Amino acid sequence: MSEAVQQNDDRPDPYSIPINEIDLTRSDMFADDYHIRVFERLRKEDPVYFQEHEEFGRFWNVTRFDDIMEVDTNPGIFSSEGTIVMDDVDEDFPLPMFIAMDPPKHDKQRMEVSGAVAPVNLAKMEGSIRQRVQNILDSLPLNEEFNWVDLVSIELTTQMLATLFDFPFEDRHKLTWWSDVATANDDSGIVDNEEERQAILMECLEYFTRLWNERVNEEPRGDLVSMLAHGESTKNMEPMEYLGNLILLIVGGNDTTRNSITGGVRFLNENPDEYQKLRDNPGLIPTMVPEIIRYQTPLAYMRRTALIDTELGGKQIKQGDKVIMWYVSGNRDSDSITDADSFLIDRKQARRHLSFGFGIHRCMGNRLAEMQLRILWEEIMQRFHTIEVVGRPVTVHSNFVKGYSELPVIVRA
Ligand code: HEM
Repeated sequence: MSEAVQQNDDRPDPYSIPINEIDLTRSDMFADDYHIRVFERLRKEDPVYFQEHEEFGRFWNVTRFDDIMEVDTNPGIFSSEGTIVMDDVDEDFPLPMFIAMDPPKHDKQRMEVSGAVAPVNLAKMEGSIRQRVQNILDSLPLNEEFNWVDLVSIELTTQMLATLFDFPFEDRHKLTWWSDVATANDDSGIVDNEEERQAILMECLEYFTRLWNERVNEEPRGDLVSMLAHGESTKNMEPMEYLGNLILLIVGGNDTTRNSITGGVRFLNENPDEYQKLRDNPGLIPTMVPEIIRYQTPLAYMRRTALIDTELGGKQIKQGDKVIMWYVSGNRDSDSITDADSFLIDRKQARRHLSFGFGIHRCMGNRLAEMQLRILWEEIMQRFHTIEVVGRPVTVHSNFVKGYSELPVIVRA
């Protein structure tokens, strides 16, 4: 296992400390599922929990399903403008993107690209996604250990992204690299410092500017670059806004689906009865997919900023305060989701979860992500009796992206 081996020694039991010592900025929150008991306690004892942190300032942590819905569906009070992460905007390297904008600009830019993942386009893509899934699965070694993250999760989502952007296929691994760099923080080990991170992202802009220049003079096509280059509200973007929206689309379509693909294998191994249910009835795949996405919650939170003084869950939020919607907690709120701690592949109302957010920013690619996972599991069940997890999953260092760098498995036919 890599140097990122899970560590939990210095993390206090969340119930053993005064509640105001709970620190939600830790980047080792998700290792060994430490966060589960943290949020369980907060939901019970202080569901809109205030924290003041030397680096991230004042912020409110919203942990219950209903309170999260209230924030997510009131963009007039809780704004996305500027950024949707805890950290403030880096004024030296601002990256405007429509996930971090309010209406009307948000709505216009979203509209320019949403056609790429509209149902009619998804139906057209299904055949090629299936073909790619089949190729990936058929090339896996049988009866020997390998890292599922590298050979399946990353490979499949990267190929998908290359398709959406009509990106040169042989260079597709650059997309994975840029996605990892875009979400890297100082202790992730991916880059050494912020300067290096910015330099790599500028290479991404340079590459995509070439693609833009080619496509802007051609007839509009169905790929994301062409849509941005021809769209009324995106064709005059400044370069950094182009880069911002590229990063949004790259990260949006990459890390999230990747980590759901890995999470599914992990959860079926942790719940052998559910795995058996799936073998007995692969017709459950369409409900298993949203259940995997709920249980994984690939993006742990989204941040908003209060535009006015307001009240939430009995707490007085001040104008300018940060408000963090912890989807990862709301998805385990048993007041809103029956038996929320259990992974149940035949769950009723499986799509009732927060992993895609709600309201005007609800994930644009949600149906694409579900389709990829559905096809993957349909093809897996036709080939393999068991994907056995043979070591501990290694989680990435972040309190935002909830994902994996390693999942050692052995596949048996
Ligand atoms: C399991 C996979 C995925 C998860 C869990 C996920 C999660 C999310 C979340 C939480 C948001 C913000 C919602 C909010 O603020 O209310 C979001 C927005 C977004 N996602 Fe996804 N996403 C996934 C897959 C994808 C894919 C495949 C794409 C590719 C096109 C994508 C593109 C976007 C975009 C463009 C936005 C911004 C929408 C807006 O601001 O209007 N996502 N996603």
